[in-house]
Amino acid sequence: MASNDAPARSAWSGKWAFILAAAASAVGLGNMWRFPYLAAKYGGGTFLLTYLVLVFTLGISLLLLETALGRLTGQSAIGAFKQFGKKYAIIGVLASIVPFIIVPYYSIIGGWVTKYTAAYVFEGPAALADGGNFFTGFITSNVESFLWMFVFMAIVFVVVARGVKGGIEKANLFMMPALIVVAVGIAAYTLTMPGALEGAAYYLVPDFSKFSPELVISALGQMFYSLSLAMGIMITYGSYLDKKSSLTQSVVRIGGFDIGVSFLAGLMIVPAAFVAMGSGDAVAAKSGPSLMFVILPEVFAQMGGAAQFVGFLFFLLVLFAALTSGISLMETCVSIVQDGAKWSRKKALIAVMAFIVVTGSLVNLGYNGLSFIEPLGAGTTMLDFFDFISNSVLMPIVALLTCIFVGWVVKPKLIVREVTLSGPFKLEKAWTIMIKYVAPVLVTVILVAFVAAQFGLFKM
Ligand code: TRP
Repeated sequence: MASNDAPARSAWSGKWAFILAAAASAVGLGNMWRFPYLAAKYGGGTFLLTYLVLVFTLGISLLLLETALGRLTGQSAIGAFKQFGKKYAIIGVLASIVPFIIVPYYSIIGGWVTKYTAAYVFEGPAALADGGNFFTGFITSNVESFLWMFVFMAIVFVVVARGVKGGIEKANLFMMPALIVVAVGIAAYTLTMPGALEGAAYYLVPDFSKFSPELVISALGQMFYSLSLAMGIMITYGSYLDKKSSLTQSVVRIGGFDIGVSFLAGLMIVPAAFVAMGSGDAVAAKSGPSLMFVILPEVFAQMGGAAQFVGFLFFLLVLFAALTSGISLMETCVSIVQDGAKWSRKKALIAVMAFIVVTGSLVNLGYNGLSFIEPLGAGTTMLDFFDFISNSVLMPIVALLTCIFVGWVVKPKLIVREVTLSGPFKLEKAWTIMIKYVAPVLVTVILVAFVAAQFGLFKM
């Protein structure tokens, strides 16, 4: 990672290298796959609004906190906290567990995207648009679903092992704008379909009767996941940054870009889901990890001669976004093992690979061989469980501890000083209040409300 920032002598190239690396980490399956199905599931506009508010208050504040902490200490997560006292290392350790939980199931979804990219070439758009049978047949297969997961993992391994990430990130410079252009095109096309405008209204107009603790905790988890927060990665990226690059500007750009891509993905998929399913209730009831893989092929199939090309291009671009994030995730795991166990890079790499293959296979079995295991209730899978533990439980806890640590132990002034090294910090007061009071209270209330709702203590 650091190698990409080699020309960081000039402040300008340093800042853009940082923004690019952070955006490449942030924009991924979280935006294209996860955000739209959550928005569809949790009442559309209500979710979107909650998400927007969370990103532009808590999300950007935490992004600033993490990158500034990294730049201040010049260390990755565990070292950064440890610098202030041995006992604080635990926050870094908890944060470091998160990527290990995410990477196995990220590879599974990555495998689905890889399969779809290939299927548009070899099987054609009609085969994929059959109301979900294609998808179900694929993920429940005992061989194929594993093969494509391994293909995705293999690409990630090779890139991380050869350390050619620099080129990938440069390619990103073209791929990400291309993804946006294609998504805009698909969204515009979708909106012309019968029933789509009703879907757009569901997606854009909040309906406060849909508000629930589950909605808020999901939006919160999605925010951490999508911005790659609360897992140490942004601390590490910040540690590579030179002192002259403006942190405030950079984090607003990263956050804005990330939310822009998510918004578009939702605008493309939620109305499409309406076209296919008819009503908000039906959409909410059926939305889950399969949404992108079942709904979009239906839309593509209606595009006539362009169907194959559009389908292929779309999944290729999503694959690209997934690869850059997958590479960054694995890279994170490798450096954690390397630092933690004091192993050589090669040894750490092999250990992480083995871990990903074994846990990825195990989680994937949740869709076929072990589908009788339903950890979160009927119809749920092990993938849902891994996703839930990392995003809805661990990440909020890490974020809470981080805010308490900065707000009350080392004091916000320390971070403020780091931020002002590279420019004015107009919202210093608001940020301080956010980190000291609002964020800890908010996250605690959300967590408690959520746990209470899980145990049926109250119904919202
Ligand atoms: N933010 C990524 C996405 O939206 C996923 C992700 C979470 C990630 N944590 C990460 C990527 C750490 C790289 C590194 O898909």
